[in-house]
Amino acid sequence: MRKKIVAGNWKMNMDYADSEILISKLLSIYKESAADVIIAPPFTNLLAAANTLKGSAIEVAAQNMHFAENGAYTGEVSASMLKSIGVQTVILGHSERRAYFNETDEMLSKKVDTALANGMHLIFCFGEELNDRKAGNENLVVENQIKNALFHLPEAAWDQIVLAYEPVWAIGTGETASPNQAQDMHAFIRKTLADNYSWSLADSVSILYGGSVKSTNAKEIFSKADVDGGLIGGASLDAEHFIAIVNAF
Ligand code: PGA
Repeated sequence: MRKKIVAGNWKMNMDYADSEILISKLLSIYKESAADVIIAPPFTNLLAAANTLKGSAIEVAAQNMHFAENGAYTGEVSASMLKSIGVQTVILGHSERRAYFNETDEMLSKKVDTALANGMHLIFCFGEELNDRKAGNENLVVENQIKNALFHLPEAAWDQIVLAYEPVWAIGTGETASPNQAQDMHAFIRKTLADNYSWSLADSVSILYGGSVKSTNAKEIFSKADVDGGLIGGASLDAEHFIAIVNAF
């Protein structure tokens, strides 16, 4: 049975004090849920978040990492640095990293390898832009993003991977993919995994949906057979909304 997961991507929001407040609210509201819960604060708040949440049911993830183990990469953070503060999971391939920081499939493939070599878990994001969807190319674009960064991996590596389909046109726009659009794409992704690996692998990989998920639409999206949870941006900055999304399962 694959895991249900709700992950909050705080992006470049929440200074240290705000982060402490949000985490303590989350801890006071959250009881237990059918879904695993992950939050990804900015780097400056990661250590404190990891310490505060140690032993709780809420896991902490990083929003990014570099592919090198260490060295002259000013401004970057490595997998071993994340692990040294108790962070075992990293988000890779977010569309904002691809669009604003020129992250390519090739670079992401290296990041994936480094994260896995360090025993980390990853939430790998991908998704088509509006132009791709208008041209009817969304499946092709998504298939290539997954293939180019992940299909060199052996089956065993997939225990450490969660996929997050995030159509770029739905991120932060208030426009969500309809539950059926999400289901169609998730089913296509699972079939792509099955074609390249096996159905038993494809059935074991959690595929999250991201893009304007809110407490008001989460239940319907999560009710779809191939949607195993969500990667939540804006709505993860409010404890009540985020936990309502977690409880939508
Ligand atoms: P959003 O962001 O929920 O604010 O649309 C989702 C994401 O970028 O992960």
